[in-house]
Amino acid sequence: ARLAILLSGRGSNMLALLEATKTGVLKDLAEVVVVFSNKPDAPGLAFAAERGCPVAALPSQGRKREAFDAEAAALLQRYQPDLVVLAGYMRILSPAFIQPFAGRILNIHPADTQQHQGLHAYEWAFENHLPETKITVHLVDEGLDTGPILAQQTVDLRGADTLEEVERRGLAVEHYLYAETLAELIKGNQTVMSSAGEASRVPK
Ligand code: GRF
Repeated sequence: ARLAILLSGRGSNMLALLEATKTGVLKDLAEVVVVFSNKPDAPGLAFAAERGCPVAALPSQGRKREAFDAEAAALLQRYQPDLVVLAGYMRILSPAFIQPFAGRILNIHPADTQQHQGLHAYEWAFENHLPETKITVHLVDEGLDTGPILAQQTVDLRGADTLEEVERRGLAVEHYLYAETLAELIKGNQTVMSSAGEASRVPK
């Protein structure tokens, strides 16, 4: 399958996915056809370019959401992605973006999306002294962290007494769960529902 990875920041999930396509669970299943950012100076974009990955950026600052999303979708369509993989892409997507890729956009959220949505999920787990949290991989719809859940993995937070430790444990889970979930999806072990409700297979 052809993956477009979208990010706005550091890109640790993007790096884990890229690695998985080369030597891990996504080898022979997926290739990263573009890493795209709405922030031209995102560190993750530079890391992708250093590794020889095609990159593209379109600054979103000062743009109207619908106009930006339509332009971003058109740019991405040129790479013909089978799946659009959000990895720290800090934008809520409008229909202009979602429609061309309906049912084929994934996100990872560092909490149970049924309990927490939006920013600062690790801070939320830490400040509430949660004994565990959940990493969620889900399909993206027009809400904030609301789409159908594809996979969840529990992170044991007992004894994690700094925010850094909470994040360290969480990110370790994020980095394998995202690749594993994509691999299952591409192998057809998990069904993607389109927005029209029909099941569709994702090509290898
Ligand atoms: C991750 O915690 C991810 O779950 C959330 O944003 C963060 C991105 O981190 N959506 P990175 O840029 O992949 O390192």
